[in-house]
Amino acid sequence: MREQRRVAIVGVGKMGEAIVAGLISSKRYTNEDILCYDISPERREYMRNMYGVRCLDKPSEDMREASIVFIAVKPRDMSEALSSISSYLDKTSILVSVAAGVPLSYLRRHIPRPIPIVRIMPNLACMISESMIAYSTEYDIDSKVEKNIVSILSLLGRVVKIDEQYMDAATALIGSGPAYVAFVIEALADAGVRLGIPKNLALIMAAQTVLGASKLILDRNIHPAMLRDMVATPGGTTVEGLLILEEKAVKSAFIHAISRAATKASELRIQS
Ligand SMILES: NC(=O)c1ccc[n+]([C@@H]2O[C@H](COP(=O)([O-])OP(=O)(O)OC[C@H]3O[C@@H](n4cnc5c(N)ncnc54)[C@H](OP(=O)(O)O)[C@@H]3O)[C@@H](O)[C@H]2O)c1
Repeated sequence: MREQRRVAIVGVGKMGEAIVAGLISSKRYTNEDILCYDISPERREYMRNMYGVRCLDKPSEDMREASIVFIAVKPRDMSEALSSISSYLDKTSILVSVAAGVPLSYLRRHIPRPIPIVRIMPNLACMISESMIAYSTEYDIDSKVEKNIVSILSLLGRVVKIDEQYMDAATALIGSGPAYVAFVIEALADAGVRLGIPKNLALIMAAQTVLGASKLILDRNIHPAMLRDMVATPGGTTVEGLLILEEKAVKSAFIHAISRAATKASELRIQS
């Protein structure tokens, strides 16, 4: 018999769906353990058909069955979503907000009940349990509650705790990150195509190469500069390519791109 109670997800758009898919694929949760609510009838119907999960037509007492309630609506819809669910949160539930730019203080102000509130920044790789997930809590969170939430988030990827002041940066790096990496993969694949490699093969070569380099860095604890050095033999082919990347200031472009995204995240931040 499983000890856990249900997980509820409010807002099952792209991110909410990724959480549902990740929890089910982890095999620690089944479709029967997951309760969804979305304001959009089309999304509710889609989630029922796609994952066999129960989708409420409106927030109800049934939400009390959930030990964890993820809220994955756009920041502009947060106030309405919170007020629609707040009276249905059980006193032992934990509220986990996925929204960029919505501070813990704002969430606390909209949830009158003394339940734990956690703010996370994941990405769409939750879908395959390979997300990076940064989380922040209020200072007085119970350690057992925190352990519980970390263990559930770990089903969706790699989890780190950060101070909330770094959430805008995490939004730019983690939340937006898959878009930047996709851009790199697309560029690598296009380069392969330019050199005559068939398109489908070039894409596989590019994506698997990015995956392999990431795994070397993470699993073997190799710093990226060290990996670069290991590949680039003196007078060889790689240094020729690296020279062009330096000339085109590609590293600097990435740093500026992610900094700009973080600035935008801070501009969009809802005031607490
Ligand atoms: N997408 C990402 O890669 C990503 C990454 C990290 C974090 N996030 C965060 O995740 C949150 C959701 O983003 P998303 O990309 O999944 O957005 P999305 O695809 O637009 O999904 C949001 C869903 O919530 C529904 N909704 C709106 N108001 C609601 C309410 N009051 N109650 C219940 N459902 C409601 C929306 O329905 P309607 O379309 O009918 O309004 C939509 O189906 C955002 O706060 C974002 O910052 C997203």
